[in-house]
Amino acid sequence: MESKDGFQEEGFVMSQTQKDYLDRAAKVLARIDNSYAYFPENETPVFNRGEGIYLYDPDGVEYLDMVAGYGTVNQGHTHPHIVQALLKQANLLAHTSATLSNVKVELAEKLAELSPIPETMVHFDLGGARATEGAKVLVRAYTGKPKVISFSNAFHGRSAGSLSMYNADQFQFLYNIQKDYYTAPYPYCRRCPFGKTCDSCSWECLGKVQDILRENRDVGGIIVEPALGARGYIFPPMDFFKRLRRICDEHGVLLISDEIQMGMGRLGAMFACELYDTVPDIILLAKSLGGTMWPLSAILGRRAIMQSVRPGTLGSTFAGAPLACGVGLASLEVFEMENLCEKSQTLGKYFLDSLRERASGFPLIVHIEGLGLAIGIEFELPNGDPATAEVERLHHMALRKRLLLQRGGPAKNMINMIPALTITREQIDEVVDRFVELLNDLLLEPKVVENMAASSAAVPPRTEEIIAKN
Ligand SMILES: Cc1ncc(COP(=O)(O)O)c(C=O)c1O
Repeated sequence: MESKDGFQEEGFVMSQTQKDYLDRAAKVLARIDNSYAYFPENETPVFNRGEGIYLYDPDGVEYLDMVAGYGTVNQGHTHPHIVQALLKQANLLAHTSATLSNVKVELAEKLAELSPIPETMVHFDLGGARATEGAKVLVRAYTGKPKVISFSNAFHGRSAGSLSMYNADQFQFLYNIQKDYYTAPYPYCRRCPFGKTCDSCSWECLGKVQDILRENRDVGGIIVEPALGARGYIFPPMDFFKRLRRICDEHGVLLISDEIQMGMGRLGAMFACELYDTVPDIILLAKSLGGTMWPLSAILGRRAIMQSVRPGTLGSTFAGAPLACGVGLASLEVFEMENLCEKSQTLGKYFLDSLRERASGFPLIVHIEGLGLAIGIEFELPNGDPATAEVERLHHMALRKRLLLQRGGPAKNMINMIPALTITREQIDEVVDRFVELLNDLLLEPKVVENMAASSAAVPPRTEEIIAKN
C-alpha cells in the first residue's frame, strides 16, 4: 500500500497496547490540539513514563526524546529535585488568591537577580501565549501605541491576544482577530527573502523594519524570537539583535524578546538575549520555567513598563500559584546545580560537530546549524526545492529506531534536535548513530530515489554549489 505522498505505507511497529490506546483515543479525544499533528493518526506514539532524555511506552520500550516538549523539558523528564519540590510544595500550600506566597516573592527575586534588564520586575502567568498577550497589553499601556512589529515565520502562541501579534493566517480567520501587527522578514539567510547572500547583504530585513517604523506612527514594540523555534530552527546573524535594539532606541519602541522556547539555557545562556549582547525591554519565559511539572510563564520587564497598568489588569486564577512558584524555584536550582547553561554550550558544540562530521555529506542534507543544544538540519532536493515529503517520511521512520525527532522549518523541511540539557556525550553518540542509520534507510526508499532523480534532471548551479560545500 502507498501513502498520499507515494511512500511505502510501512510505519513503525506499534505494540498492541499502544494500538489499544489509539483506538480508545479515537473515540473520546478531539483532534484539536497538536497531539495528532505530527504523525499519521493511527501511528501517534503513546507514552506513559519519562526519565531524563528517555520516554517509555506502556510496554516499557525506551525512546530517545530529541524534542523535549519543544523546550519544556530542559531539565529532563521527572527530574528528582523538581519532583521533590512539587510534592513538598503540594504538602505546604498549593493555592492562594489575591494574596502573596513566600515562594512567589522568592521566585520573582531570583528571576530579577538573573535578568539582564536593570531593576527587573516580574509578572507570572499560566503559559507562553498568555505571556505574549500580557506583553502586548504592557506595550500599549506604556507607549500608548496599539501595534507591534513581528517577524515572518514567528510563533507566539495560540490565543486571540497572542495571535493578534503575528502572521498566523492559519488561525486568524477562525478568531476574527484584529491584526495589530506589521510583519518584517526574519533573517533566514540561507533562503534570504531578498535573494541576497552573506557577501551582498545590506540588512534589507532590518531596512524593512525601519520602513515600517517611518511609515507608521502606531507601533509601540517589536516582538522577536532569539532564533525561530516553531518554524525553525533558524538562527539570525549574531549582531541582528544589537541592530534591532538600536532601531528600537532610535524610534522609541520597546524590544520584546520572546524566549519562551529559546531561553532557559536552550541556546547556551539562561537568557538568549545575553548571547547577543543585547538588553531588551521585556523578556518572556515559559516552558522550562515550570520544570516540566506545572504551567508557569513570566514577563520580565523594566520597572516603569511593569507599573504602567493597574493591579488586576493581567493574571488568572492559577497564575503564579504557590505550587507553580515552588516548582519554578526548583527548576532554576537545577540549572545552577547541574550547570545546564554551560552544558548546553559544550554539549551543543559536541552534538553539532558530530552531526556535521557524520551527516553533512548525505544527499538531501544541505545545512546543519546550531547554537547551544538547539540544532536545525535542513533538507533540500537537488534542484533546491525543500525536501518536505522526505523529511516527513524521515520523521516518521525515526520511530522505528525509537528516536523522537522534531520536524520544523518554514517549509517543514528541517529536522530539529532539541534534547534535554541533561543529555550526556554517550547519549549524543547514540542519537547520532541512530540518525545516520536512519539517513541510510531513507536513501534506500524507492520514492526518495525517484524524487531525487527527477529533481536532479534540472539542477540549478546554486544548489549544486550548496551540496558540494556541505
Ligand atoms: C516562541 C514561543 N512563544 C510562545 C509560545 C506559546 O507558548 P504556550 O504554548 O505555552 O502558550 C511558544 C510555544 O511553542 C513559543 O515557542
